[in-house]
Amino acid sequence: MTKAVKRIGVLTGGGDAPGLNAVIRAVVKSATNEGIECVGLEDSFDGLIYPERSWPLTLKHVTGILRLGGTILGTTNRGNPFAYPVTTPEGTADYSELCCENFKKMGLDALIVIGGDGTLGIAYELHKRGVPMVGVPKTIDNDIVETTMTFGFDTAVSFATDAIDRLHTTAEAHHRVMVVEVMGRYAGWIALYSGIAGGADVILIPEIPYDITKVIDRIRERDKWGARFSIVVVAEGARPSDGAREVAVAGTADRMERLGGIGAKLSQDIERLSGKESRHVVLGHLQRGGSPTAYDRVLATRFGAYAVEALQRGESGVMVALKSPDIVSVPIEAIVGRTRNVPVDGDLVRTGRHIGIGFGD
Ligand code: F6P
Repeated sequence: MTKAVKRIGVLTGGGDAPGLNAVIRAVVKSATNEGIECVGLEDSFDGLIYPERSWPLTLKHVTGILRLGGTILGTTNRGNPFAYPVTTPEGTADYSELCCENFKKMGLDALIVIGGDGTLGIAYELHKRGVPMVGVPKTIDNDIVETTMTFGFDTAVSFATDAIDRLHTTAEAHHRVMVVEVMGRYAGWIALYSGIAGGADVILIPEIPYDITKVIDRIRERDKWGARFSIVVVAEGARPSDGAREVAVAGTADRMERLGGIGAKLSQDIERLSGKESRHVVLGHLQRGGSPTAYDRVLATRFGAYAVEALQRGESGVMVALKSPDIVSVPIEAIVGRTRNVPVDGDLVRTGRHIGIGFGD
């Protein structure tokens, strides 16, 4: 028989996403109602490495946080306990054993880990070393497999759509091409959704390498029938068919490369090759900030409540997921190291093509 869960550690890892606090709130409320104590672990796994960076997480702490962006627990995308950044010549140290020991010392029965593919992969390794855990998928990029949607995505798309709406009016007034760079490292979901919602003329995503001459053709075509402006939405991870992704800062042993620059490059190329004036805007971290939309609040709340339910059923090594209309749990093994890409022949891209959106191919 599985041991009853009486004390849960809760942590958030990786880049933040609107809705993290809504998950934390749902976990604490559901757990408290079941007589389960919660412990908040600060800054991802740091709260397990340094137990003094953990504290009792009660109803009082989660009151009023449903609508707040960010995370009351703090987060980091540099805290992998298996390769923790240190100042010795090796550069990293393995603190995973320490995490397992501290987990026991802190009297925890399980963890609820809210994070992306990287954070969930780390938690899964700890699970294999005897730390029971349930994961909650988070990323504004919406690129985690086995779940139809991650929370944070809807908020990011709503923000980007609003930005595109605003850029439309100035693009039209000045007869310019406005290039909007949105997030989306490996997958173009934000670009595709916000581009369709915002009425973009060209959408460039990592899944479809683009040919700049095709982009120019599309802009010229619009000019011909009287639309003297164009809106181009580009995902940060998009690349030309004859080139590489734009990297702003190279990666290190404990940190992924930072993308950025494709919007500026495209805008320059468009101006040079089409003769039309062009400007670019990078939406960047604005997409990750602010209050979650109603959709994200509901999804985050469902995920949090279900994670507690799953632990009570004795599940571990699983991630909660949306398989519309239900919330289910799936083995983490099935998601680690995989990316949910935009299907290039799927309905969304086809819809875009039907209404004349150019994908640069
Ligand atoms: O994974 C979400 C994401 O927003 C990516 O699209 C982006 O490349 C990355 O996070 C940036 O993260 P940070 O600036 O926090 O390193």
